[in-house]
Amino acid sequence: MLLNLHDLDAGYGAKTVISGVSLALEPGQILALLGHNGAGKTTTLKAIMGLLPARAGSVHFDGHPINRLGVADRVATGIRLLPEGRGVFPDLNVADNIEVVAAQNVTGPSPMFRPADIYRLFPVLDERRTTRAGSMSGGQQQMLALSLAILGTPRCLLLDEPSIGLAPNLVERLFEQFHTICKEHGVGAVLVEQNVAAALKIADRVVIMNSGRIVFDGLPDDARKENVWDYF
Ligand SMILES: Nc1ncnc2c1ncn2[C@@H]1O[C@H](COP(=O)(O)OP(=O)(O)OP(=O)(O)O)[C@@H](O)[C@H]1O
Ligand SMILES: [Mg+2]
Repeated sequence: MLLNLHDLDAGYGAKTVISGVSLALEPGQILALLGHNGAGKTTTLKAIMGLLPARAGSVHFDGHPINRLGVADRVATGIRLLPEGRGVFPDLNVADNIEVVAAQNVTGPSPMFRPADIYRLFPVLDERRTTRAGSMSGGQQQMLALSLAILGTPRCLLLDEPSIGLAPNLVERLFEQFHTICKEHGVGAVLVEQNVAAALKIADRVVIMNSGRIVFDGLPDDARKENVWDYF
């Protein structure tokens, strides 16, 4: 098992926002984490990334407890977050965005994704090397954000609403590329999405949250049969 949450509680200040959250993720598996606004999806990703401490319960990565690891150590083990909004440096050009993150994350003898691999995967970023990231289209910025998240050797991607603001055909293309990356390299992923249809298309497993708790955990087909909309 790549990632295992067991009975996890997390929150802000006096407020516990997620409680008793348990989920498991295998290498190469894409888990869609769904739920309405305020359900606790982003909070769950922050707790996995170490941006919020676990108040109770545990997070295991590769079978080891990581509750006490800081964010930098979790990044070094291959846990990567593509945050809500645009996860790029808007004032830097594409090449500098990639170099800044590569300097930090492309380490070890055989990293999975070097800058050259990124330019091969996303030719449009190659063409746009000198373009200021903030001036690119939403789709291209999300492509860059995904690239930054995978530089080095990612093992578990946490994507927070990567499709937001993108035209449907761009979402499909971005998700296809993301799906290929996960399957070809055995990278596990937790995909938080409002675009339920797009997420269900590429997900191996679906978890639905409501008011900080998990209310459904199963296969996409079963989620469809149960009519996931009832949970929203
Ligand atoms: N920084 C914060 N301080 C205090 N409360 C917060 C903070 N961030 C989120 N919350 C609260 O925690 C709850 C869960 O928020 P969270 O952002 O995890 O939901 P979400 O499922 O990601 O929602 P959305 O779909 O809107 O992104 C909400 O009630 C929210 O108001
Ligand atoms: Mg959120």
